[in-house]
Order: sequence, then C-alpha cells, then structure tokens
Amino acid sequence: MKHKFRQNTANEGFSHSSVAGKIKRTRTFLSGLFICSFLFIFFISPKINAGSLFENQNVNNKNDSLKHYRSFKPGEEWYDTDGKIINAHGGGMLYYNKTYYWFGETRGRSASQGVSVYSSKDLYNWKNQGLALAHDADSSSDITTGSIIERPKVIYNKNTKQFVMWFHLELKGKGYSAARAGVAVSNKPTGPYKFLKSFRPNGNMSRDMTVYVDDKGMAYQIYSSRENYDMRIVELTPDYLSPTTKDSLISSDHREAPAIFQHDKKYFLVTSACTGWAPNAANLYVSKSLFGNWQDTGNPMLGKDANITFYAQSAYIFPVAGKKDAFIFMADKWNPKNLTDSRYIWLPVEFKNAKPYIEWKDEWDLNYFHKQ
Ligand code: DGJ
Repeated sequence: MKHKFRQNTANEGFSHSSVAGKIKRTRTFLSGLFICSFLFIFFISPKINAGSLFENQNVNNKNDSLKHYRSFKPGEEWYDTDGKIINAHGGGMLYYNKTYYWFGETRGRSASQGVSVYSSKDLYNWKNQGLALAHDADSSSDITTGSIIERPKVIYNKNTKQFVMWFHLELKGKGYSAARAGVAVSNKPTGPYKFLKSFRPNGNMSRDMTVYVDDKGMAYQIYSSRENYDMRIVELTPDYLSPTTKDSLISSDHREAPAIFQHDKKYFLVTSACTGWAPNAANLYVSKSLFGNWQDTGNPMLGKDANITFYAQSAYIFPVAGKKDAFIFMADKWNPKNLTDSRYIWLPVEFKNAKPYIEWKDEWDLNYFHKQ
C-alpha cells in the first residue's frame, strides 16, 4: 500500500505536475492562439482581403471588360483591350495608316500624368499604346512633373513626316495663369513625343485649344484667350510647329473647349461656356471661312439634358474614315472628384437642312450613319 500509496502519491505527484504542465502548455497554446488570431484579424486579414479584393477587381475588370465592343454607350465605363479603364480625357483623334489614334490627358484623381495614346481599327476597341508624352522629371523643363497638360491634339505633317502634338500647358505651381500652348514631335504616331517649346501664340493667353488641318494641308490652332473671353484662330507655319502672325478673333463670348469640323463647304465650331469642370450649354458657330465671319447659331444638342451637353463638355469632332458625312462628337463627362473616372460621351453628328445637331443616344453603332 505504502508502495502503492507512494506509487500513487508518486503517480499523483507525477500526474499533478503533468496536469499542471498540460495546463501551462494549453495556456501557452491558447494565449499564442489568441495573439495569432488577434494579429491575423487586425493586421494580416485586412491585407489579404484587400489583396484578394484587388485581385477580384482585376478579375472582375477582366471578365467584365475583356469583351469585344460592338457599339458606343455614351457615359459608361469604357475599357481598353487589356481590361483597364481608358484614361484619355480632353482628347483628340488622328487617323493614320488605316488606324485611329486617340490621344488624351492621362489623369490621376486630379494630377496631370502626361498624354496617353490608344489605337483602334474599329473605333470601339482600343489598345493602350502607353504614354505618348510624359512629364519630365527635370525641374527646369516647362513640362516638369506637376505642370498641367490638357487637351492634347496630334496632326501629321506630310512634308516633314512628323507627328506634331499641340496641347494646353500650365506651368508647375502657377495654377492656370501661365496659359500657354505646348508643342511636341515624334516620328511615330504613338511617340514618344519630344517636347519642343511652350509659349503664348503672338503673346495671347492660350488655354483650351484644338488644332485643325484644312483641305490644302494648312494647319491652325483654335484657342481660348484673354482669360477665355476670346476664342481665336491662328494659322501655323508649314511645319506645324509654330504660330504665324495670321491670328484673328472668332468670338468674344467667353467660351472654351473648341471642337471644329468642316462639312458642305462650311466650318462648324462647337464650344462650351466657362464653368470649370461643371457642364453647361454648348453653342455652335458657323462660318464659310476659317478667318471669316463666325455666326453663333445656338445650342446644337438635342434630347434629355441637352442644356448641359448631357453632363459633358466638347473635346473634339472627327470624320469617320470611309463614311460620307459621318462625324463623331467626343466630349468629357468630367468627374472633378476623380478625374481618372471622367467618362466619355461619343455621339454622331446628324444634319437637318444642312445644319448639324447632336442628339442623345443610350447606345449606337457606326451603322447609324447609313440610316440617316
Ligand atoms: C475647363 C476646361 O475646359 C478643362 O479643360 C479644364 O481646364 C477645366 N476647365 C479646369 O477647371
């Protein structure tokens, strides 16, 4: 018994320390588990979730967006062929070698991030060709990071075989007070473009702008001047790199966002009022000559929200290659809280009694031009 007792005692003694050990190990295990769970819940899990959310978004983006577009849906998200949202605002179009090149402002939430270029054969599906013009890290450059590049337009000079980009440039840290035009060149449509210079044409302020090449191959810059009170047109030198002194007033109606096209021997110029990023009513000027007498014919927009240009602002109007009397109106539905997510409004220009109008459509495709 003694022995047994002793044994028991010993056993009890043994099991005591064993239980205590187990309890200790369990406690250590539990507190370890607790700490791990705490760390997991508060520090690791959110990151994993964010990561998987991000991945899911990409997957969703891909699934949602790697579709083949066959129509335009004005104001809806528009994805490129990599499944990324198209970032090309205040844009312009170049048609070269049976390919369309869409140039536009690459924007962060608000920052100017250079000029992007996308290419397409069908106008619906766009391949990102990267940055055509990048901001320069060199702080002495006019286009240094932090400067603002807006409304880029590219024209091709058949004589010099150069692609020439014009844009609105605001110098770093100066708000919108510099009011300059910038010029950059490339031997390829997609760039990279080499920045050449920035200036005020003939000393005039130059903010929102576009460029236009006429039937004879002469090029022009149309630009908002005198704090946007004047809309002006200046003929460019034959190499398209500089303004000449042939520079005249189109109107003094406080307008911006010029978009020009020619049809039936007349020039048509759509502009917006000046209300920052907020939409307003467009107007349409008409003239038989670029330097002629421009007549304001009122708002060419029709349909719901026509009085605020369908929440958008004119950017560019271009002819569709191979189609007669087919023009597309490009506009920006700005989102000033996140400029990246500003949407595109593309609508066909239609004609009634030779007068252009632009009517809202939820969805349309290029066959629309045959139905008119
Ligand atoms: C209106 C212009 O049309 C845009 O390009 C841009 O410059 C904004 N103003 C900035 O407020």
